[in-house]
Amino acid sequence: MLDIKRIVSRIIAEKIDELTEDEIASMLEYPPNPDMGDIALPCFKLSRILRKSPVDIANDLSSNITEDEHIDRVEAVSGYLNFFLDKGIFIEKIVTKVTTEQERYVSSDIGKGKNIVIDYSSPNIAKPFHFGHLRSTSIGNALYNIFEFLGYNSIGINHLGDWGTQFGKLIVAYKKWGDKERIEKNGISELMDIYVKYHKEAETDPSLDDEARAWFTEMEKGNEEALELWHWFKDISLQEFARIYNILDMKFDSYAGESFYNDKMGPIVEELNEKGLLIESEGAHIVDLEKFDMPPCLILKKDGSTLYATRDIAAAKYRKETYDFEKCIYLTGADQSLHFKQFFKVIDLMGYDWADRLIHAPFGLVSVEGEKLASRAGKVILLEDVLKEAIDKTLKIIEEKNPNLENKEEIAEQMGVGAVLFSDLSSNRIKDISFSWNEMLNFDGETGPYVQYTHARACSVISRTDDDIDYTFDASHLKTSEEYNLVKRISFFPSRITEAKDALEPSIITRYLVDLAQDFNRFYHNHSILNVEDENIKKGRILLTKATKITLEIGLKLIGLKAPNRV
Ligand code: ARG
Repeated sequence: MLDIKRIVSRIIAEKIDELTEDEIASMLEYPPNPDMGDIALPCFKLSRILRKSPVDIANDLSSNITEDEHIDRVEAVSGYLNFFLDKGIFIEKIVTKVTTEQERYVSSDIGKGKNIVIDYSSPNIAKPFHFGHLRSTSIGNALYNIFEFLGYNSIGINHLGDWGTQFGKLIVAYKKWGDKERIEKNGISELMDIYVKYHKEAETDPSLDDEARAWFTEMEKGNEEALELWHWFKDISLQEFARIYNILDMKFDSYAGESFYNDKMGPIVEELNEKGLLIESEGAHIVDLEKFDMPPCLILKKDGSTLYATRDIAAAKYRKETYDFEKCIYLTGADQSLHFKQFFKVIDLMGYDWADRLIHAPFGLVSVEGEKLASRAGKVILLEDVLKEAIDKTLKIIEEKNPNLENKEEIAEQMGVGAVLFSDLSSNRIKDISFSWNEMLNFDGETGPYVQYTHARACSVISRTDDDIDYTFDASHLKTSEEYNLVKRISFFPSRITEAKDALEPSIITRYLVDLAQDFNRFYHNHSILNVEDENIKKGRILLTKATKITLEIGLKLIGLKAPNRV
C-alpha cells in the first residue's frame, strides 16, 4: 500500500545517517490543518541527536531533500518540515491499487503459520444468554476476523460454562420443583425460575446447599443419574444458544467448555503437587500467591471438587498442546481480571514459558437506556429480545423510508443486527457502555446502519456505470479537497487494521468506518459523479466511489456486519 509515512520517512532517512527509516516514521505527524502540509516532521525531536536548532534542521533539510514523484513541495516553517504531496499521483495510485487488487489491497500474510486462540462468548449453561454476554461475543468475533484477515489461523473457542457447583443446585431444584414438560416447552427460562426459587429457599434452609454440593460431587464422580440430568440441561441451553448465534451469523471452531476438562484436571492437580505449588489451607488446596500481591488461587475445595480456575489451568495447557498458539486471548468483563491474573501466574509458576502468551482482554460494563444489567434474580435483558426488537424497529424505519425495497425482512435483519453489533463495538473496550435505541438505529448518526447505508449509496452509483470501459484516467484533474481527503482516508485502512489487531480493539475499525463514510458523503453531496463533462474527472470519481465501496465492505465484514447493496 502507498503509505505516506513510509514514503516521507524514506526520503528523510537518506539525509540523516543517525536515524533509521522506522525511527523517523515514528516521529512524523499529521498536521491539524492542510496549510501545514499533509505530513510533517517536528524537527525539535532531532535537535539533541543532530546538535542543531529545530529551525536550522528544518531549513537545511528543506533545501536539500531529494525530489520524488509523490511529493509536490516541502516547506520549513518554525522548526517543522512540512510535506505537500502530489495529490494527482497519490489519488491515482491509491484508487488504482484498491480497485484492481480489491480485498488483497489490505489483507496480508504477516500471521502466516501462526495460531491465535480466541476464547469468547462463553455463556453459562442453564442461564439465559443475557445482553451482557454480547460484548465478549462481538469483540471476540471481530478479533477472530481481523487476525484471520492478516493471515493468522484463528481458532474460536466457546468455553461454555457447563460445569460447576451451580449444576448441583439445579439438580436439587429440579428434583424438588421441576416439571419436565414445562422445561421442554419453555427451555432456559423455566430452568432459571427453579434456580431462582432454589436461591430463595436456600436462604432459610442451608441444608439445600449441602445437598447441592453432594450432587456436584456425584457429577464429578460420574454418577449416571446426575450426568443424565446435566446433559439434558445442556442440550436445552445449546439449542437456545444456537438460535442466537444463527441470528448473529457466528460460528465457533470448538465448543469445548468447562466440562471438557473433567478428565484433564487430575493430572494438573498432580503436577501442581509434584512441583511443590499445592498447599493445604483449611481443608482446601490452593496455590499461594501472596508474594505476588494476590489472594491464593483455589484449586480444590474442601470436598475435593474442582473450581473455575482449575478448569482454566487445564484448558490453557490443553490448548497449548493442541494448537501451539502464538497467543491465547480471553474476552470477559473486567470483573474477572483478578481470576485471569491469578491463573496466568500459576501457569508461570509451573515453569511454562508460554504463560506470557495468555492474554486477558477485559471490557467494561453494559447498561441499557441507563439501566444496569442485573444477572441474578431479577430483570435480565435477553440478547435475543434486543436483537429481535432491533430488527423490528429497523423494518419500521425501512417501511417509512423505502417501502418498495426488495427483501425488506432480510435487509432489516442485516441492519438491525448490525446496529446492535456496531454500537457494542464502538466504544473503547474497557469503557462502560450504555445502549440507547435512538442512537443505535440513527441512520445519520455514527452507527452501523449509517455505514451500511453509505455502502449501499456507493453501490447504487456504481450500478449506474459501465463496467467494460477502460478506467485509466489522469488524476491531475481531480483537484477538490473532498476527493483528496477521501483518498487519504482510504490509504489509512491497512494501518488501522494492524492497530486494531495490536490493541485488540475493534473500536478502531468502527471509528474508521464512520470517518470514511462521512468523507464519502461529503464528497457525494458536493460533487457530481456521473454527470460531469470531463472524462478524466468522471472516471476518477467513479473509481473513487468503487474504492470506497470496497473499503467499507471489507471493514463491515471484519467487524461481523453484512454489507447489503441496497437498503
Ligand atoms: N462463562 C464465563 C462467564 O460467563 C466466561 C468464560 C470465559 N473464559 C474462560 N476461559 N474463563 O463469565
